[in-house]
Amino acid sequence: MSIDLNARIPNNVDLAENRRLQRALEAWQPNYLQWWNELGPDGTSGYDIYLRTAISVDAKGWANFGFVKMPDYRWGIFLNPAQQDRTIPFGDHKGQPVWQEVPGEYRSTLRRLIVTQGDTEPASVEQQRRLGLTCPSLYDLRSLFQINVEEGRHLWAMVYLLHAYFGRDGREEAEAMLERHSGDSDKPRILGAFNEKTPDWLSFFMFTFFTDRDGKYQLSSLAESGFDPLARTCQFMLTEEAHHMFVGESGVGRIIQRTCETMNELKTDDPETLRAAGVIDLPLMQKYINFHFSVSIDLFGQEVSTNAANYFTQGLKGRFQEAKLDDDHTLADEAYKVHVVNGDRIVLAEQPALLAVNERLRNDYVEDCQKGVDRWNKIMQKAGVAFEFRLPHRAFHRAIGAFSEIRATPDGKIVSEADWTHRHSEWMPTDAERAFVGSLMTKPVIEPGKFANWIAPPARGINGQPVDFEYIRFN
Ligand SMILES: [Fe+2]
Ligand SMILES: [Fe+2]
Repeated sequence: MSIDLNARIPNNVDLAENRRLQRALEAWQPNYLQWWNELGPDGTSGYDIYLRTAISVDAKGWANFGFVKMPDYRWGIFLNPAQQDRTIPFGDHKGQPVWQEVPGEYRSTLRRLIVTQGDTEPASVEQQRRLGLTCPSLYDLRSLFQINVEEGRHLWAMVYLLHAYFGRDGREEAEAMLERHSGDSDKPRILGAFNEKTPDWLSFFMFTFFTDRDGKYQLSSLAESGFDPLARTCQFMLTEEAHHMFVGESGVGRIIQRTCETMNELKTDDPETLRAAGVIDLPLMQKYINFHFSVSIDLFGQEVSTNAANYFTQGLKGRFQEAKLDDDHTLADEAYKVHVVNGDRIVLAEQPALLAVNERLRNDYVEDCQKGVDRWNKIMQKAGVAFEFRLPHRAFHRAIGAFSEIRATPDGKIVSEADWTHRHSEWMPTDAERAFVGSLMTKPVIEPGKFANWIAPPARGINGQPVDFEYIRFN
């Protein structure tokens, strides 16, 4: 695949060979930049930032690092190379050659899948636009901007597909990506979690741990798609996504670290004492976990879903690591256990596996989250602090699916609406607690090598640079 890095839009899709498409994307580019300037990271256009830029799809050297101003970032279109003779890995068309063009009968479904994925990318940039003003360090500020520019590139990836394969409808959808805005009452982003605020850095790290990880699972299932350009696009996006989750996991881990140090220093686990000492107590972090986990598992949709079954049968959206699954990949007669409400209890019930594709993906996701939580728990263990984080039950605080009809505790016990009203502030951050977290983050820490009091420094810097490297020059 030839890579054209010097074109107005860097790409490995031979854009120069397709003048019409090139012109259409070049016409969208200024609108994108205008959106970036208005709703991207606030007041940052003059900063020189040590950023990673994708320049190739070669696993061994796909990116380079250097100082860039974000509006000059080289947002490019990169697809993984086509796999020769790839066949559709699942569903009714299993074994047939993959599609290089959109099959007419699946056109609107595919467009909706691409638009829904694409919409999340600029949404998170909008959610995070003011965080830079309260960053805990230069290192963390760089991480934020790195994620922001890469979510911008992910938007480019989806917009490319819309322009290249969906004609006029696709172009209109590409425009609409810049018209919906996170939290806008008139034109909100499509999915709930992407209209929530990301008001502070604890929320940001939780978001990149939990919500970017939803992205990993959605992209992984689209990376199996029979529509080959979508599969190849998502495969490459996943290489960038890994770093976003690293930022989340290590960010939360460093906050835990700092809190444990303070607990040991002051010989206390009293939340008020710890808050007065300027760190975030562990029970409060548990509340943030409860919140972010619950809004993120909503993103997987209904437990029993005919839409998801159709996407699967039609070969549009597969399961996580489809090839590694040991079944016939059509799910014709298979069953799968799904959590359901039965009277006042939550039980497992067998459903046709085809209808339970969402739930299966959610289970893969929960398992992955649990591994991260286990690593966080190790930090406390190592520090000699007797506290453990737990993922809340999947029925807790849900807005989508069977559990949106009931109220449940983090342990999965069904409670009455009145109980919920009395007790939900035990389980999720209250306004006052959010205000406390915000109060730790009123000023940015931007001196190289310095860190805010509530977070420990990272173990190492970015790309082999020292932790106290000047990652951003403000000019
Ligand atoms: Fe993304
Ligand atoms: Fe991401």
